[in-house]
Amino acid sequence: MTLARTPAIQSKLPAVGTTIFTVMSALATEHRAINLGQGFPDFGCDPRLPQAVTDAMAAGHNQYPPMPGVPALREAVSAKMEALYGRRYDPVTEITVTAGATQAILTAILAVVRPGDEVIVLEPCYDSYVPNIELAGGTVVRVPLTPGSLRPDFGRIAAAITPRTRALIINTPHNPSGTVWSAQDMQALQDLLAPTEVLLIADEVYEHMVFDGRAHESVARYPGLAARSFVVSSFGKTYHVTGWKVGYVAAPAPLSAEFRKVHQFNVFTVNTPVQHGLAQFMADPAPYTGLPAFYQRKRDLFREGLARTRLRLLPCEGTYFQCADISQVSDLSEAEFCQWLTREIGVAAIPLSAFYGEGFDQRVVRFCFAKQDETLHTALERLARL
Ligand SMILES: Cc1ncc(COP(=O)(O)O)c(C=O)c1O
Repeated sequence: MTLARTPAIQSKLPAVGTTIFTVMSALATEHRAINLGQGFPDFGCDPRLPQAVTDAMAAGHNQYPPMPGVPALREAVSAKMEALYGRRYDPVTEITVTAGATQAILTAILAVVRPGDEVIVLEPCYDSYVPNIELAGGTVVRVPLTPGSLRPDFGRIAAAITPRTRALIINTPHNPSGTVWSAQDMQALQDLLAPTEVLLIADEVYEHMVFDGRAHESVARYPGLAARSFVVSSFGKTYHVTGWKVGYVAAPAPLSAEFRKVHQFNVFTVNTPVQHGLAQFMADPAPYTGLPAFYQRKRDLFREGLARTRLRLLPCEGTYFQCADISQVSDLSEAEFCQWLTREIGVAAIPLSAFYGEGFDQRVVRFCFAKQDETLHTALERLARL
């Protein structure tokens, strides 16, 4: 008799386990808590968008599209970036449609990072960056954003750059802190990288969520940065369709060529009818030009309510995340506080420590306000007990 035995394997990502997001969502379900931990909307998208996708399917757009994406969608992205950021990306050679920003970031890293290369991440950061670098055999170099303000510290970034630094990953508007890099920040980064060979991966998935009349400082606006950058964005965030997992990367032709070599043997292509639907929907800029006002109103509603509690609010300049300092309310660690908040108050949040490799605890938690007003009001009624 043959024994069925699974051969032992050595994990490539031994440190990766169940994420805090999964843990908190399960706890929220168990305690019927309002889930302000999860980073996605609890409301629907513009009905014209699924209609455009349905129309594309009915019209027979159901086979493989060209490898870098449906031309009409790449042209729409190129036109949008040129109108907003003043740089023209050639849709034929410089824009690639991806299965969400997550695939775009992984593919960019796999395309350029070799074993032994160093890649700088600024903590707290989105949870896919570090495992992506490790999968490519790169060495992760963690540089903290300034504790308290969570703004970039260019002195520390400069100190982390070595001859082995292949790339730096930045994210503005920033998840989890809600900070937005200023024109001075971008200029400082451009000056810092000018004498180096460092590539930049710019995670700009929240590009259309910048508040108080400010502009999003895309790296595309800065020639010295754009020339070394993969600019990544996500239709999921912009159009309230996170489950569709479609995004794009814009990069100079030589970088895009290497990106596409990996993309071709990774996903090859991305959902055809969704790309056609998005291309058609993008003809109207109103859905993204109106997004700052849409989310700013929710931010203000949520902040007004939280201001009546003993939570101390951190600034929220962009994204749909609001951070709050818990030190007046509790002596618990961030993670313990989030569990307590879910169980006892009925609202789930995410500890900021989850976005640091070493779990740095600065008594700050993250709430997501991409929720219906009704959801936010109910959450605020519960949080009023704090
Ligand atoms: C900073 C950041 N980057 C990337 C992503 C992933 O985007 P997508 O769903 O398009 O893969 C997210 C989603 O939460 C994010 O917050």
